[in-house]
Amino acid sequence: MIHHDSEHRLWVLSGPSSSYVLHLDDADRPRVLHWGPRFTPEQAASLLLRLPPLGFRPVEDPLEGSFDLVATGGLCYGNAGLQVRFADGTRDLELVYTGQRRADRELVLTYADRHYPLAVECHYRLHGDVIERHLVLRNEGEPVTVVRADSATWVLPRLNGYRLSSVRGQWGAETRVHRTELPYGETVMTSRRGVTSHQANPWAMVDDGTAGEEHGAVYSCALAWSGSWRLTAQRLPTERVTLSAGFGHDPVTWELGTGEELVTPVCAGLYTEGGFGAASRAWHDHQLRHVLPHAGELRPVLYNSWEATGFDVSLDGQIRLAESAARMGVELFVVDDGWFGARTHDAAGLGDWYPNPRRFPDGLGPLIDRVHELGMLFGLWVEPEMVNPDSDLYRAHPDWVIHRPHRRRTEHRNQLVLDLSRPEVGDWLFRTLDELLAKNAIDFLKWDMNRPFTEAGPDERLWLGHVQTLYDVLDRLRAAHPHVRIESCSSGGGRVDLGILRRTDQVWTSDNTDALDRLDIQHGFSQLYPARVMGAWVTDSPNPYTGREIPLDFRFHVAMAGLLSIGGALTEWSQAELDRAAELVADYKRIRPLVQHGRQHRLLPPGGELSAVQYLASDGAETAVLVFRRARRFGHADPGIPLRALDPRARYRDTATGEVHHGAVLLAHGLFPELAPGDYASALIHLIRE
Ligand code: GLA
Repeated sequence: MIHHDSEHRLWVLSGPSSSYVLHLDDADRPRVLHWGPRFTPEQAASLLLRLPPLGFRPVEDPLEGSFDLVATGGLCYGNAGLQVRFADGTRDLELVYTGQRRADRELVLTYADRHYPLAVECHYRLHGDVIERHLVLRNEGEPVTVVRADSATWVLPRLNGYRLSSVRGQWGAETRVHRTELPYGETVMTSRRGVTSHQANPWAMVDDGTAGEEHGAVYSCALAWSGSWRLTAQRLPTERVTLSAGFGHDPVTWELGTGEELVTPVCAGLYTEGGFGAASRAWHDHQLRHVLPHAGELRPVLYNSWEATGFDVSLDGQIRLAESAARMGVELFVVDDGWFGARTHDAAGLGDWYPNPRRFPDGLGPLIDRVHELGMLFGLWVEPEMVNPDSDLYRAHPDWVIHRPHRRRTEHRNQLVLDLSRPEVGDWLFRTLDELLAKNAIDFLKWDMNRPFTEAGPDERLWLGHVQTLYDVLDRLRAAHPHVRIESCSSGGGRVDLGILRRTDQVWTSDNTDALDRLDIQHGFSQLYPARVMGAWVTDSPNPYTGREIPLDFRFHVAMAGLLSIGGALTEWSQAELDRAAELVADYKRIRPLVQHGRQHRLLPPGGELSAVQYLASDGAETAVLVFRRARRFGHADPGIPLRALDPRARYRDTATGEVHHGAVLLAHGLFPELAPGDYASALIHLIRE
């Protein structure tokens, strides 16, 4: 709910357990008086009587770093989330407050420059304790250059210390958690690649350095954008800290013409207590309630043929895999790369989205029919933003790719990026996929994007336009084919963010399917994103990427922590492996509602001898625990694994052994799962409240 105190020019935005208190000062600057535990309007108003601590030297503006809209100009020397250049070269913005629009959960504060006809709207929308913020800029004057327009600048209260949590990574090693004391100055996380990126992900969390998995206050924000982005964590010498995030990157600017409007993506902010675990659960809950298009659905068990066949795709080969997958209990069969055009290797065919006539002389129909006959849904891989120079599309439209005159066209994986900001390319993209979906009974698309931009230049039309067209095409395809579900992939986890998740149903977490590496990747992924979207495949052993040999059960149990999928060469699995896999798929189906819709507790992080993750049904009636032992040291007894969020007065029955445990004992002493003696031992324990 949103409370307004007009006398004091105060707004109190409150979720069930947090409040955000904003005050417009005499200079019309929106000062954040509080972001933290929930306050009543009266408690919030009392903050006005508390003067900010004055710095020792009067030359410091004691209020710098306490405004949620920071424009260049005046005595602002820190990071400004809003930076423009007017036609006459003026760079200072002098904003005056012009009014508000308010609804139950929405607030818009409007400002205008005191001279130039540029209006700025700050939009706030409450979803529980999550505050979604974005800006709208409207220009009625001569063209204005927008240098930076961050969706939000989050102001943290004065803490005893500041620790920044984020994820870093690379291809095959995405989302590695990184926690570090926030340095003084500006720490910038960014993608300049045109896509969200493997290297960094657009979210950050800050705590005072003492929070743990189960305790402590955490301030977090996440940007809903799938192109290049920038998140600046600023720590001033006066100990004021802000997190400011938006689309675009240095030195890309936008030209805002006369009569034009710029709407930024949403940046969401969240204050939580209860440690990183509670922060993650609140973000998961937010995505399940307010971001994902079909969050209530259970995602099917998927099979993907990529690791089994590579580019060697044939009708018979795919049917053999499909039959084997169906016997195992798979519900969605996905044909990956290699089914179209001249795509028999990675140097040809991208752009030609019709079935390879030699591989599928009668089109995809016979394969799709067989997959459906086997009782599975049918999915298909596409990478529609790309083109191989060796393709009919490129030969017909060499000018459709992102390029600059007099510059080389840098290829990456032998491919170039289509310039989706050109209307004719966007139209072609929609028409091509619309036709593919209309002509074939496709239930699922794996939408890939395997290379970042090059030679794009500082042309704002292109950087923003690409993502806007991508979103627009996804929205139109979903509307035209409402039964189709979409997976976002970008060489693995290169395009995972709250923007793409609003339009897709799951993501491909990483090309690295090594179960040991996956524990770290999934741990980092879960900091912000829910298991409900985290695609996880069981592949062959030794793993094709890392060469590591890991038992089948361990591989399955790791993949069960998200959307269980299978990606192995099933025709080479032994009958014993196929039979055991079918049992494990059945196990997953029993716990699937807990994993996909329940609440996740990271019991023991990966890295140590044992790691474990628990999922709890929303009504608390069931819980599933996945336990992994990487390697056992001789003479070392496994510790108990205390569970979370159980009813201490209840008893819980183990569905496999029938053993009954007291909730109080599980909470205090934990489970002692029986793990096989060797390395890579794992277990799934499913408990039901009696
Ligand atoms: C990317 C994806 C893989 C696979 C290949 C196909 O690397 O991440 O899962 O689809 O492309 O070329």
